[in-house]
Amino acid sequence: MMAQSTMDKSTTEAVGRKLNTLLADFHIVYGHLHALHWNVEGPNFFTIHKELQGMYEQMAEFIDDTAERILMLGNRPATTYKEYLETTSLAELQSRKYSAEEVGQLVLKDLAHVITEVRTLIETAGEHNDEGTADFGVSMLREFEKQNWFWSAFSG
Ligand SMILES: [Fe+2]
Repeated sequence: MMAQSTMDKSTTEAVGRKLNTLLADFHIVYGHLHALHWNVEGPNFFTIHKELQGMYEQMAEFIDDTAERILMLGNRPATTYKEYLETTSLAELQSRKYSAEEVGQLVLKDLAHVITEVRTLIETAGEHNDEGTADFGVSMLREFEKQNWFWSAFSG
């Protein structure tokens, strides 16, 4: 049985849509992080390889938390990559060699994207007085902003 949300239908629909977009984005970024974790080459290999692992592990938690938040609001999360690719505006990365500089640029680009999307989620949740989702969004935002600082410092 689906969870009965304590919020009205317009809230759960509007917020659920934003969460579903985020769920799709996160899956694609999760794939990006692996493509870069596996394929980065050069003198910074060890540092980047390890840092990206931390990021995809964190992303796996955000994916799970996002899907579970969708269920709490009384909707079902998308589970197929077909749906994720139809929903996201991000493109997948090919498996090839990546330099440290390229990794920095690609990761910063993804972070800028998810930060914008998470801000939209927080805004939508706020408009509908859904503090639970807004707070969830803020906790993810803080983490992505920290990662953005790390990678900005790395890229100089
Ligand atoms: Fe690994």
